[in-house]
Amino acid sequence: MQDNVHELMLAEKAITEKDYLQAIVYYESYLKTHLLTVEVAHNLSLLYIKISAHEKAKSLLLQAIKLFPETDSLYRQLGNFWKMLGELTKAETCYNKALAINNQEASTYNNLGLLFLQKNTLLEAERNFKQALTLKGDYFTAMYNLALCYKAQKDNRQTVACLLSIISANPNYGQAYFLLGQILLEEKNSQEALQYFHRVASLYPDDVDILHNITISLLEKGYYKEAKPYCLTVADLQPNNTIAIFNLGVIAEKMGSYAEAMNFYEHVLTINPNYFPALNNLAIINLETQNFDKAKKLFEQALQIEPNNKSIIHTLSAIKGDQSIDCPPPEYIKTLFDQYADHFEEHLVKGLDYQVPLLFKQMLERNKLLLEKHYLLLDLGCGTGLVGAVLQDFAANLVGVDLSLRMLEQAKQKNLYSQLINDEIVHYLSTTIKQFNLIVAADVLVYFGNLEQLFFALKKCLMPKGYFMFSIENYHKGEFLLQKSGRFAHSQQYIEALIKKYDFSLRDSQLSITRMQNNKPVAGIILLLQRNK
Ligand SMILES: C[S@@+](CC[C@H](N)C(=O)[O-])C[C@H]1O[C@@H](n2cnc3c(N)ncnc32)[C@H](O)[C@@H]1O
Repeated sequence: MQDNVHELMLAEKAITEKDYLQAIVYYESYLKTHLLTVEVAHNLSLLYIKISAHEKAKSLLLQAIKLFPETDSLYRQLGNFWKMLGELTKAETCYNKALAINNQEASTYNNLGLLFLQKNTLLEAERNFKQALTLKGDYFTAMYNLALCYKAQKDNRQTVACLLSIISANPNYGQAYFLLGQILLEEKNSQEALQYFHRVASLYPDDVDILHNITISLLEKGYYKEAKPYCLTVADLQPNNTIAIFNLGVIAEKMGSYAEAMNFYEHVLTINPNYFPALNNLAIINLETQNFDKAKKLFEQALQIEPNNKSIIHTLSAIKGDQSIDCPPPEYIKTLFDQYADHFEEHLVKGLDYQVPLLFKQMLERNKLLLEKHYLLLDLGCGTGLVGAVLQDFAANLVGVDLSLRMLEQAKQKNLYSQLINDEIVHYLSTTIKQFNLIVAADVLVYFGNLEQLFFALKKCLMPKGYFMFSIENYHKGEFLLQKSGRFAHSQQYIEALIKKYDFSLRDSQLSITRMQNNKPVAGIILLLQRNK
């Protein structure tokens, strides 16, 4: 008997030492000579769950319920078991049975609240968390869950109120600081958010999960510089943490340090050669810096991991000089510009001296076409709205179309456009009933090879005598060429043939340096066409 009681103490000691398998051995040995108790059923079922021995956990709890049918905690635990397995109806039945036995236990309401939160029945969840708090005012877990529930209801005011009251009673409740930080980030109050994140990190300086979550929250909102110290700490604590090292690469890339980013991505690949995002990002940097052989090798490796990745298939075709391609797949455009969106302007305008929007304005001015509030203006591939910013004063109505949602989000913040539409250009032109008297496409036709469909659809949307202004990259032979950069260049003869076929007149054209690429000027042409009839 003495030995058996000793076994229980040894089991508990093994649990505190996180030696779960050994704890199970002690409990199972104890049960060979003793009847099951509620406490042993609790502890042992939790251990079974920890090692994913789900059947054993379930049958132990059912056995205990048979022996102690009036014990609410056993039903609550069985409810937790079903909830963990996603069996929400069974879980709800168990919690309700627990409440039928004892309706004064706060944790049952809390667990039921969590179940409703999972089911997104938020008012029910709120009601249960509040009931838990009525029974036990200092139940911080329930208060925190109530905050989560308000957050899911998009009620930031109530969420913050809950979190602040947790913190005032319990200044070491780290999760509350973390959620407050996230909310303040959403509200663009980064200064205060950082103070809260700092507080969480000082409470849990070695908790990799928390530091990682802070990093991700900051990265998602574009706070790269601020995310870096947290990410560095994770990488210090876990030198083989590929996610942290990869994120350091992303941070370096977003901050314009390509060489540093490459080092981080290469480091990731030494730990895990099949880490797709590192292969892909490293390949893209090599492509941008015109290291084509290296880029090709890396893209080929990446394609082995994601054989149906259309962006990579297209990029590889471009690098290999495959000229059978008329147009890139929409996935390529979306992926490229979604990734590029938050540093597009910094990179293109400041880094590459991008000139096209300004050249458009100058061309209209030269042709005495800059007439205030005159244009029903359609900006094809509007991106972040750089053309809108230059031409908005001359537009009575300004519509932007783009495939990349992230680019459109940036454009929306500028508040320039009457309408922003997430669509593929030819699809939009073919399906809209709107008509415009000026359509522009700045640095966009480089993502189309064959321009026939575009001209055909565009003509339908352009009023008689309306204007179409666009830029191309210059190609001296044939019709068009898919360049290694993945962009198309078009010849003047090809454009002239389209002008004739679709009954336009060439009002103006100008050879220009449209931007820089690897410190070399990119030669382009700005063209202004007018629909004849
Ligand atoms: C280089 S950016 C130029 C953006 C803007 N016009 C400017 O001058 O800043 C090209 C834009 O065209 C969009 N784009 C390219 N091909 C497209 C297509 N087929 N349909 C819709 N958008 C497209 C891209 O998503 C990207 O935002």
